[in-house]
Amino acid sequence: MSPPLLEVRDLRIRFFTEDGEVRAVEGVSFDLQEGEILGIVGESGCGKSMTALSIMGLVPEPGRVTGGEIRFKGRDLLSMAPDEVRDIRGKDIAMIFQDPLSSLNPVLKTGFQVAEPMLAHQRADKRRALARAVDLLRQVRVPAAEQRARDYPFQLSGGMRQRAMIAMGLANAPSMLIADEPTTALDVTVQAQILDLLRTLNRETRTAIVLITHNLAVVAGLCSRVIVMYAGQIVEEGSVFDLFERPQHPYTWLLLRSVPRLDRTRPERLRSIEGLPPDLIAPPPGCRFHPRCPFRIEPCFTEPPPLQEVGPGQRAACWVTMRRAHEEMGAATLLDVRPGAGSGVHGPIREPHRG
Ligand SMILES: Nc1ncnc2c1ncn2[C@@H]1O[C@H](COP(=O)(O)OP(=O)(O)O)[C@@H](O)[C@H]1O
Ligand SMILES: [Mg+2]
Repeated sequence: MSPPLLEVRDLRIRFFTEDGEVRAVEGVSFDLQEGEILGIVGESGCGKSMTALSIMGLVPEPGRVTGGEIRFKGRDLLSMAPDEVRDIRGKDIAMIFQDPLSSLNPVLKTGFQVAEPMLAHQRADKRRALARAVDLLRQVRVPAAEQRARDYPFQLSGGMRQRAMIAMGLANAPSMLIADEPTTALDVTVQAQILDLLRTLNRETRTAIVLITHNLAVVAGLCSRVIVMYAGQIVEEGSVFDLFERPQHPYTWLLLRSVPRLDRTRPERLRSIEGLPPDLIAPPPGCRFHPRCPFRIEPCFTEPPPLQEVGPGQRAACWVTMRRAHEEMGAATLLDVRPGAGSGVHGPIREPHRG
């Protein structure tokens, strides 16, 4: 395998607030291979966006990257000279966001905005850049691209705006595109179209994609590998198949049960995960998930579990991996357990409270 396109090592991000230091991201490490689509999932507030923004050098005040390395094509972005980094970000790494309207300039025509990164980074002449912008709009399947290029963002539908954002991201043919909740603001049909578009673009251009979403159903059809984050840390990592078929971390497992699956036609009863993510100023000792975990055992209260190999290409940070839970309790028992129900693998599993 060729060296990774992106290597994130022991990334730490803190927010220095009046109430204290928020440990937003703590010890996150992962690789992204060339041409790969990697998903980052987790509930709101678990550090997905900050991880992404740190790659772009855009962590907002009062936040700061306080440790770690972000190597892109072998070079550490965090220790590079500012103008060097500027050249990479926005050119070889692009990012798109949940709400295109807030990232597009309302008073500039769409075509010009798509052309803008080319003007900024390639010093292309304006006419050629605009022509290329129309091509890009076509590439992201904007119908009547030439006309749409003359529209202002507010004249476009939500889906078309997101397509325009993606076109803008692709303007300089980046090696990597970070998409932070790119479909969250869109209705289901348009969501599927945008995901389809990302898949096609990845195939056509070999642009690697980091797809960030709180919705596991979104990663299922698109990503090859997934990282699951909880409270600023990676709790599990593996292929989409392994994560969906044999999740090893209780959080992944509970998360899977709390999202509707796109491939199920009949609606099922969804259970949300009981409790809330912790306060990151004073996260719980031991495993950060232990207060919500139905399987916790003694060390979970005091010892942070390391992220370790639990199968080929699969890592989990859990003292009681799901495999052991399966072995000790049997799959049938396990499936009957609901969040907050159990006293841990060493005790009997009680029926949960209802209502
Ligand atoms: N402006 C801020 N001030 C203080 N803490 C913040 C701020 N923005 C984010 N955080 C902290 O960073 C954590 C991670 O945020 P974020 O990466 O946006 O989560 P996600 O994208 O997974 O929803 C939040 O839970 C919060 O504790
Ligand atoms: Mg976010």
